[in-house]
Amino acid sequence: MTGKITLTMIKPMAVQKGFIGPILAKIAEGGFKIVAMKYTKLSLEQAEKFYEVHKERPFYGELTEFMSSGPIVAAILEKENAVQAYRDFIGATDPAKADAGTIRALYGTNLGMNAVHGSDSDENANIEGDFFFSKVERY
Ligand code: CMP
Repeated sequence: MTGKITLTMIKPMAVQKGFIGPILAKIAEGGFKIVAMKYTKLSLEQAEKFYEVHKERPFYGELTEFMSSGPIVAAILEKENAVQAYRDFIGATDPAKADAGTIRALYGTNLGMNAVHGSDSDENANIEGDFFFSKVERY
């Protein structure tokens, strides 16, 4: 059974470079429906909470510092098999290895500043969706 939602964030560097519009256009082209969306900024504590699963990784400090360095756009996207469909759609984690034309290839800077986040499982999609959005913010 595959889930219908995934959580994405347009990361600070992509926001700073003016890529919110082009990335949202790509998401729409990909057939993903936006069911919730907000422009916000994470505190360091919030970024640490969001990326708790990576706590033991050597890049955790760098990742959470970067993700709290400027505004982001968070959104819940809906599509059949949303988690895998979106991961395929945005391209490999490292923009240098992402297929041409994918969001990360087009708008990513490097491994950390890879334009967008995408949930890695249905379980995490639900946890991450609940992190940003209440029931009355989803339509
Ligand atoms: P994201 O989809 O947001 O989930 C975890 C993030 O960790 C990932 O995208 C990358 O941006 C980041 N990441 C993964 N590996 C590394 C690494 N070796 N160095 C820095 N950041 C990394």
